[in-house]
Amino acid sequence: MHDEDEFCNRAEVCEALDDTPQNPLVRETIGDIINARYHRRDVMRGMLGVAAISSVLIPALLLAACSDDDAGGDGFHFKELQSGIDETHHVADGYVAQVLLRWGDPVFADAPPFDPRRQSAKAQLRQFGYNNDYIGFIPLDGSDDRGLLCVNHEYTNEEVMFPQIPLQDTKETDFKDMSEVLAEVEMAAHGGTIIEIARSGALWKPVLDSKYNRRISPLDTEMAIDGPAAGNARLKTSEDATGRKVIGTLNNCAGGITAWNTYLMAEENFRFYFWQDEQAEPKEVCAGKEAQSVKRYGLGERRQAWGKFTDNPNLRRFNLAAEPNEANRFGWIVEVDPFDPKSVPVKHTALGRFCHEGAESIVNKDGRVVLYSGDDTRFEYVYRFVSAGKLNPDNRDANKRLLSEGTLSVARFAADGTVQWLPLVYGEGPLTPENGFDSQADVLIDARLAADKLGATCMDRPEDVQPNPKTNSVYVILTNNKKRSETEVDAANPRADNLYGHIIEMIPPDGDHAADVYNWEILVKCGDPKDEGVGASWHEETSVHGWFASPDNCAVDADGRLWVATDQGSGWPRTKKADGLYALETGGTKRGKSKLFFRCPVGAELCGAYFTPDQETLFVAVQHPGTDGTKSYERFGRASTFEDPATRWPDFDDKIPPRPSVLAITRKGGGKIG
Ligand code: FEO
Ligand code: CA
Ligand code: CA
Repeated sequence: MHDEDEFCNRAEVCEALDDTPQNPLVRETIGDIINARYHRRDVMRGMLGVAAISSVLIPALLLAACSDDDAGGDGFHFKELQSGIDETHHVADGYVAQVLLRWGDPVFADAPPFDPRRQSAKAQLRQFGYNNDYIGFIPLDGSDDRGLLCVNHEYTNEEVMFPQIPLQDTKETDFKDMSEVLAEVEMAAHGGTIIEIARSGALWKPVLDSKYNRRISPLDTEMAIDGPAAGNARLKTSEDATGRKVIGTLNNCAGGITAWNTYLMAEENFRFYFWQDEQAEPKEVCAGKEAQSVKRYGLGERRQAWGKFTDNPNLRRFNLAAEPNEANRFGWIVEVDPFDPKSVPVKHTALGRFCHEGAESIVNKDGRVVLYSGDDTRFEYVYRFVSAGKLNPDNRDANKRLLSEGTLSVARFAADGTVQWLPLVYGEGPLTPENGFDSQADVLIDARLAADKLGATCMDRPEDVQPNPKTNSVYVILTNNKKRSETEVDAANPRADNLYGHIIEMIPPDGDHAADVYNWEILVKCGDPKDEGVGASWHEETSVHGWFASPDNCAVDADGRLWVATDQGSGWPRTKKADGLYALETGGTKRGKSKLFFRCPVGAELCGAYFTPDQETLFVAVQHPGTDGTKSYERFGRASTFEDPATRWPDFDDKIPPRPSVLAITRKGGGKIG
């Protein structure tokens, strides 16, 4: 396990806990070593001899010969930012980053002023939540200057949110300083925000009296459960005898905006929120099938205090002994109609239950909707959902049912450069009662167990999975996996002790996202290209500032160009680079060239990244400023607290702690970004 002394706070420990594989089926290598070690495209095209000489950098000349199948815009022209780390954010020359929304900012005209020393759940529900992650922008009336910003609030960092919490002992799991009041503030700071914003000149501003503004939280937002698992006995609780209603959503990491302009919130690390009074084996609170499921999903870690307070009706359900089925009601994709603030968000069970990183979708050429999602834990899987129905351009309400029925599949990457989609369908193959699956509901609630049986490929922490509508390629962002051993490498996860991550490009045949088999290749292997032991691969023009580690979120702009955000957690001291946003060429002679565009203040990771359709504004989410790895930050050298943080970004006011914030980046004098 980890030496928890290295961490600054509990959230960092949770991040590192993704290191603890829940998957018992980590397999022996399937790859051939050549494919595993070298760029598959080089091997396929007879370039192995040259690639072997220069395996660190992809030779530009060679790539020129194989650029025909890649589009991806006409490249990036901005002047690269220098890498490094300090207390504030930086953007490339010629651009301005405006702070648009901070934790505690009003979402409604009547919101109380932000007072971090006296924060309440009631105030927080009228204010912008904590740890902004996914950002989507939906234009109003087709305008690039006015629209709805949809923002996920993934989790909370109690040590820099609350003056009542002293320096954290990361080994202590009793949460003795946490109160019910603070736990409810945390709940109110989770979830999402929908807020109208408008641009006047270069400045973006929230429209506080907009009829669309809404806060979504695990404290008070009623949601419906639909799809094949809705109403199943395993989703019923003492509060909900129907198995079709649930209060709220949590740990909403990345997400998506659908073609019919709904907002998708992915529920990621739900497993950290369910408490066991004794850190007992799961079988002591759950029996039979449920015990196996609890174990496979890694529940009961006591990483959040909510379930400790069993007398509080809002918190009791997060205690596994009190409400063993509640955890089955999290780990889904939630669909929200941002145009109707009274609408009931829907948890779509057809998309499976796992630690959903994101929910990016594309309309396939036959009109069906295809949604990709990674399960963000070491050795977990990449999934795809294909809707049964087709998009109806004239019936938005009908489109809101597209995610209710369809086929969920999981990816098996082969060393021959193909990836096969294996359907999770009850009664087919091993998904039968003999193996513990009594219905399609079981298959979806225990999607991980079903995917195990199908022989899916265990990946190096799959995060965003993003289709590119210009090229039909699909990028699979793999953050890192330091637990993979030499005997566990395979073609798609070619490095043992993969500290820096990599990006895979999947290529559907003829652009058909419903096909059973795609091709795949590695786009880049991350880390320092100058350090031979790292085994990185980048285009040779990538500078010392341009390479990155631990890719996490990504965005494709209107020109089909790829932007990648990083999340090194407490690992940033290895690269001495703050997390940031990088522009990564995917086509032509510069394929694999990366340039730094934006970087975060110390302790933060970068999330979001979303462009207005005219590509003149780029929204980014700076998450958990001042928290991660600050013990290794030489100007600070200790863990941050509310009273003593490593940075007070973005206010730099000695009464205000660091605040997660969304920034709007524009070009000085206007024009397209990049
Ligand atoms: Fe919430 Fe996987 O990043
Ligand atoms: Ca993420
Ligand atoms: Ca992350």
